[in-house]
Amino acid sequence: MKTDLEIFDDSLARCYASPRFLERFYELFLEASPLAREKFAGTDLAQQRRMLKASLVLMMLSAGDRPEGQVHMERIASVHGGGGHAIPAELYDVWLECLLKAVAEFDPKTDADLLTVWRRVLEPGIAFMKSRYDRPAKH
Ligand code: HEM
Repeated sequence: MKTDLEIFDDSLARCYASPRFLERFYELFLEASPLAREKFAGTDLAQQRRMLKASLVLMMLSAGDRPEGQVHMERIASVHGGGGHAIPAELYDVWLECLLKAVAEFDPKTDADLLTVWRRVLEPGIAFMKSRYDRPAKH
């Protein structure tokens, strides 16, 4: 029996095998939300894709309660928080739905159970990001 983290890690590897995966995610996310388009207006999206690529691994580590994941999550959450990019909590829900759509397009092994694993693994990191919205950023 594979653990959630193993299933997630294998799926992430299948998605990352295509350079189009994160491009497609940003396409979906920017289409879905005018506020996301506004927030990323001046952003170098190639650089942003590299950031997100690393972040998904960090979120996986922090879901497994690894302290090295937590330290990075703390920083990422604080730069998105009230004193930083000020990303409202509901935008993370849009973010997650777009990411799962991209997974469904790029991982040939996608089924409902796999997407549930993605939700379970990312949920703590997303809850943590949302909880920082009201707090000032410490850079
Ligand atoms: C759990 C979900 C997310 C993760 C893991 C994540 C990760 C990251 C990381 C690692 C950076 C670079 C931070 C740095 O400066 O060191 C970043 C920047 C940024 N993120 Fe996120 N992010 C997430 C969700 C979102 C959402 C929902 C939005 C909404 C629009 C957003 C908007 C931004 C913006 C505007 C920047 C700055 C881009 C720039 O430098 O121009 N992020 N994100």
